[in-house]
Amino acid sequence: MEGEKDRHHFGASKSFKLMQHWCLCLFIFTLITTSTSQIDYGDALSKSLLYFEAQRSGRIPYNQRVTWRHHSGLTDGLEQGVDLVGGYYDAGDHVKFGLPMAFTVTMLSWGAIEYWNEIADTGELEHTMEAIKWGTDYFIKAHTSPNVLWAEVGDGDTDHYCWQRPEDMTTSRRAFKIDENNPGSDLAGETAAAMAAASIVFRKTNPHYSHLLLHHAQQLFEFGDKYRGKYDASVGVVKNYYTSVSGYMDELLWAATWLYKATDKEEYLEYIISKAHAFGGADWSISEFSWDVKYAGLQVIASKLLNKAKHKRHGDILEQYRAKAEYYICSCLNKNINGSNLERTPAGLLYVRQWNNMQYVSTASFLLTVYSDFLQDTNQKLTCHGGTVDHKEILTLAKAQVDYILGSNPMNMSYLVGYGPRYPENVHHRGASIVSYKENKGFIGCTQGYDIWYNNQESNPNVLVGALVGGPDWQDNFEDKRSNYMQTEACTYNTAPLVGVFAKFLHIENQKLVHDCNTNLVASFK
Ligand SMILES: *[C@@H]1O[C@H](CO)[C@@H](O)[C@H](O)[C@H]1NC(C)=O
Ligand SMILES: *[C@@H]1O[C@H](CO)[C@@H](O)[C@H](O)[C@H]1NC(C)=O
Repeated sequence: MEGEKDRHHFGASKSFKLMQHWCLCLFIFTLITTSTSQIDYGDALSKSLLYFEAQRSGRIPYNQRVTWRHHSGLTDGLEQGVDLVGGYYDAGDHVKFGLPMAFTVTMLSWGAIEYWNEIADTGELEHTMEAIKWGTDYFIKAHTSPNVLWAEVGDGDTDHYCWQRPEDMTTSRRAFKIDENNPGSDLAGETAAAMAAASIVFRKTNPHYSHLLLHHAQQLFEFGDKYRGKYDASVGVVKNYYTSVSGYMDELLWAATWLYKATDKEEYLEYIISKAHAFGGADWSISEFSWDVKYAGLQVIASKLLNKAKHKRHGDILEQYRAKAEYYICSCLNKNINGSNLERTPAGLLYVRQWNNMQYVSTASFLLTVYSDFLQDTNQKLTCHGGTVDHKEILTLAKAQVDYILGSNPMNMSYLVGYGPRYPENVHHRGASIVSYKENKGFIGCTQGYDIWYNNQESNPNVLVGALVGGPDWQDNFEDKRSNYMQTEACTYNTAPLVGVFAKFLHIENQKLVHDCNTNLVASFK
């Protein structure tokens, strides 16, 4: 009986220790999640999703959280007899540009697919799906018949002439389309990719909607493939804004890749394989992944196909895709041969070009994170010209880029607006820089906005929370001026890739915490 008593006593002291440790763990957890010196990826994630609400065009719903915005663009498409109400403004103006809008939705969807559980753990899945659906609802409207897709509403020239709130807009809302006689394979391809990717996102929660998206995606891909052409040749008004410099072959491969992921249908895989050389998928090495250039993205997805036994017979071609994906990753890591690496600022930010450089940092962080996961899951390493690297090193680079964005940089500035103690206060954004329509409904005319608000020295009255601005120059310098649009304008496709990446890094932080606590717990039993 003594022994048993002892054991009982022993057990009690153990469970006391256990409780102590759990309390300690909880304490550390609370400390870290509330501490300001630590990077709070959860906060960044929640904020990033608010940005998409600020960019909404159309009828603002009852549950809108960004309350300084109101209805706008309610007659979009009316002139042409088509309902084009909804969708997103691309940046600081009020044109609805189809190509960057579609890329935004593709990247939001890819992030949701890749980091579904991580986003779910933060409770932000619903908001992520809302951000995607705001785009896909619009694409459904814009795709009025199998071979007609509305490409743009409004035009950059007349829009940029004014500085107005979206709620006051007096600029042209003329809509432009692509069709059989005015083709646009890049636009049709990217919209197909967006809808196919989104169909995967909604598969479980809204199967009917998922099916509808897939149907549109398949039609759009067929349209784009059958009637070949660059959309900027058909829709001249995009030329000074979103010209498809890389052409349409990347978007057609990209669309086929997403359709293959969404359907598992052999015909899409055949397309990727048979067009690998003709369309450059297995040939082009490009250290830029953007609304224009999709090669690196589709090469990363193709690399991941290699791991399935059923793709063995296409091993040769898929290996060539993979070599190009690795060129991109190695280029980010500064481990390609001389002259073919991405530049970096002195503080280590990846640097592609001075105008809106952050878009490339954001997409690179995404691809690095996804590729790191792929190597970890398949127990592989990456061999670059400059040496072999493991998944951890790749993830470390992605984290450094994300942390730079969130304030670990020489300016001590978070380039994600509304995050941390210091962020751009003069974002080049019409709505954010003018008093909210909710506060002052007095009409503000086209050039009146320039006089009263644009040239005003005060910071923006509305904080464009979650927007990732263009960011610093090649020397890490940043000038927070409204007129400095190369650095202070934000775009939807800047923030979109970060949603999944923030969720991933938050997950890692939380895991580390649990791991450290469990290690202590185990140690206490010894
Ligand atoms: C790359 O550049 C470094 C430093 O400029 C030089 O030492 C090295 O020889 C170069 N390597 C190649 C392969 O050109
Ligand atoms: C950023 O913070 C560091 C450390 O607190 C400080 O030394 C530096 O002067 C700050 N830089 C700017 C531009 O505020």
